Amino acid sequence: MARITVIGGGYVGLVTSACFAELGHHVRCLESDPGKVSMLKAGTMPIQEPGLAEIWQSQAAAGNLTVTDSPAEALSSTEFVYIAVGTPESPDGSANLEYVEAAVDTAVKYSDLSRTICVKSTVPPGTCAGIQQRIRATAGVESGWTVVSNPEFLSQGRAVEDFLNPDRVVVGSSDERVSWSVAALYAPLDPKTVIVDSTASELVKYASNSFLALKISFINEISRLCEYSGTDVGQVAAGVGMDSRIGEKFLQAGLGWGGSCFPKDTAALEKFMQSVGAGSDIVSAARTVNAGQVSHVVGRVKEMVPVGDGASVAVLGLTFKDGTDDLRGSQAIPLIQQLLADGYSVRAYDPVQPQISEELASKVTVCASAEEALFGAAAAVLTTAWPELVSLDYAELGKSMRSQVLVDTRRVLDPQAMVEFGFDFYRPGDGRVHTAQFAGEVPAEQGSAPVEAEMLPQPMAAAG
Ligand code: UDX
Repeated sequence: MARITVIGGGYVGLVTSACFAELGHHVRCLESDPGKVSMLKAGTMPIQEPGLAEIWQSQAAAGNLTVTDSPAEALSSTEFVYIAVGTPESPDGSANLEYVEAAVDTAVKYSDLSRTICVKSTVPPGTCAGIQQRIRATAGVESGWTVVSNPEFLSQGRAVEDFLNPDRVVVGSSDERVSWSVAALYAPLDPKTVIVDSTASELVKYASNSFLALKISFINEISRLCEYSGTDVGQVAAGVGMDSRIGEKFLQAGLGWGGSCFPKDTAALEKFMQSVGAGSDIVSAARTVNAGQVSHVVGRVKEMVPVGDGASVAVLGLTFKDGTDDLRGSQAIPLIQQLLADGYSVRAYDPVQPQISEELASKVTVCASAEEALFGAAAAVLTTAWPELVSLDYAELGKSMRSQVLVDTRRVLDPQAMVEFGFDFYRPGDGRVHTAQFAGEVPAEQGSAPVEAEMLPQPMAAAG
């Protein structure tokens, strides 16, 4: 079993450290924040991730996993140095590599044995090759360092499961022998392994995330067509997804994608492609559709509840998806901003009570419960599929609202039941009318012949 040092005790670094220890390796995690180090030493996780604390505590107790803020202690007689620091989005959209570079400098300075740096952080194509050249220029070719790209494909809320059950392990470097030694770290998982050059490996990560993002944007674009065609995107996605060449995953229409990865990585890829003069039509289009999806949903709210008269909208859910306390890239935030700009007041609730920016907090009423948010609201918009929010007693709560208008951006509620509870109901991609008066109807104007734009049915207009 190997001795591994992971630089960075953030989301990726903690999961990587704990899971490598779980595979039987001896792992040291180097984290510069003393507060986090104390927490981790006490077995408390600074992030919410199912299963992480349990693995951390048991591996720490078994002596396979330690954490420190001392580079010398972390890097002495280690064999593999993993870099798992952040690559935040710069103001121009490109990936900020300053933390990666600082981590590389630390690795080179303090490693007395290891000559293998593995980059887990998401970095633009060519970064590992560039780091390798930089080390050779400063430490000399004879220093023998190899920089390996070994990207992560962890989804928040299921990161431990993803690490321990990978679809594939991707390893890229200029030295195939070193790449196989890195791949061997995952041997207990018996994964499919892809050995490529480091630039290809870096691009696998960007291309995978961008493809998933554009798959969602594609179904969201189709979902708008469904609305205008009087049908439901769920039926279309089911049929499309059964084609094994396409697959059913990531065809869930809604408010668009968010999170710490898709927005940042698509922006970085777009920026990178522009910088090399390659253009990025598809990735840029995916981003445009994603931003437009929020405006589209806000437009539907406006059709259902005219602004004015102090109409307030209850926004249920702030995090970018359920199962995480992460607000990064959450589509709920621009939705709220647009509602405010349109003149609505907003009452927001999220079960994990995430910290929104002071600026936004000054304009929004943050409520302590869904009940409080819904009381007197002219409309409710469900933005995150937290089980608590999905299982609310909508029949009862609707009665406390000023008007019973419900927008289900996650498509998790039963339209028919909601209509029976007295709601005018809308969800992205559903062109059937869900109001007491017209429950389940396809708009009358709908026909099989091509229609002029102005003749297209406006299902939601019937809801008013
Ligand atoms: C993603 C990738 O899945 C993971 O492989 C990568 O390493 C990091 O980025 P994550 O950001 O945790 O993981 O979330 P994910 O579950 O992939 O969802 C991303 C966003 O897309 C969320 O806002 C989610 O709600 C949305 N989504 C997802 C959809 O709108 N429709 C879908 O069908 C799937």
